[in-house]
Amino acid sequence: MVVLDGKKVSNDIKDEIAVAVEKMTGNGDAIPHLAAVIVGEDGASLTYVGSKVRACQRVGFDSTLIQLPSDISEQALLQTIDELNHNDAIDGFIVQLPLPKHIDTQKILLAVDPKKDVDGFHPENFGKLALDMETFIPATPFGIMELIRRYDIETSGKHVVVIGRSHIVGRPISILMSRKGYPGDSTVTLTHSRTQNLSDITKTADIIISALGIPEFLTPDMVKDGVVVIDVGITRVPSEDHPKGYVIRGDVAYEALLGKASYMTPVPGGVGPMTIAMLLQNTLLARQRRNAV
Ligand code: GUN
Repeated sequence: MVVLDGKKVSNDIKDEIAVAVEKMTGNGDAIPHLAAVIVGEDGASLTYVGSKVRACQRVGFDSTLIQLPSDISEQALLQTIDELNHNDAIDGFIVQLPLPKHIDTQKILLAVDPKKDVDGFHPENFGKLALDMETFIPATPFGIMELIRRYDIETSGKHVVVIGRSHIVGRPISILMSRKGYPGDSTVTLTHSRTQNLSDITKTADIIISALGIPEFLTPDMVKDGVVVIDVGITRVPSEDHPKGYVIRGDVAYEALLGKASYMTPVPGGVGPMTIAMLLQNTLLARQRRNAV
């Protein structure tokens, strides 16, 4: 079994990005600047956004963190987005999800300038992704593709089973893996909470991408020998033994699958760090597209 070491690969990518930034500085080009907007105090979201900002520093990007109170009005958040859209110093920005219930997420995502939408969540960018046009690929699916690419995993003609149909992971990765080219050319089955006889489907999978959020859901009886397992789940499970009061668990019963899978991502240290690296990659891309005009 080969561990798909997202921590190592993401560090390689960050090193490559840092070299690109040095080159840009040397040429007198502006360096990338990412802004992140977070609304409220959700612990996991704060952790993710903190990691994104730290990663900017690591590669030499400028970064701006905008923290807003959980009771901020939709109008005020739209105003913040409008300012970021028009701020020439910002190349790309993200609005961390989920947003509080009183805010219409679709309205917010529609307000982001597609050229600065480094999350790739704007309908224009999502549509382009489905049509094989130049866009920003959402960071988590982009990270999964890059991990597959860097471990040279065969995908052509393979049966990829995606578990979970979220707009952030399941839906886009199902489109990407079915596209022409590498990684892609796969036969994709997108499964979700209403899927019947899920394990009959997962047993026929060459590659399983699980983005469900149920700890240790995928067990050895659900997979065939040699399966490639990509675990996107990150759930905080309460644990008194741990100083933080919780442990992070993926969707996959990792230890139990060690004897059956051919490749597997650990949690933590698999897809999570890749997501951050690819957000940086998209921000670099946003800057390069601006430098090119
Ligand atoms: N919440 C969970 N994943 C993501 C992500 O990739 N981007 C944003 N903005 N919010 C998220």
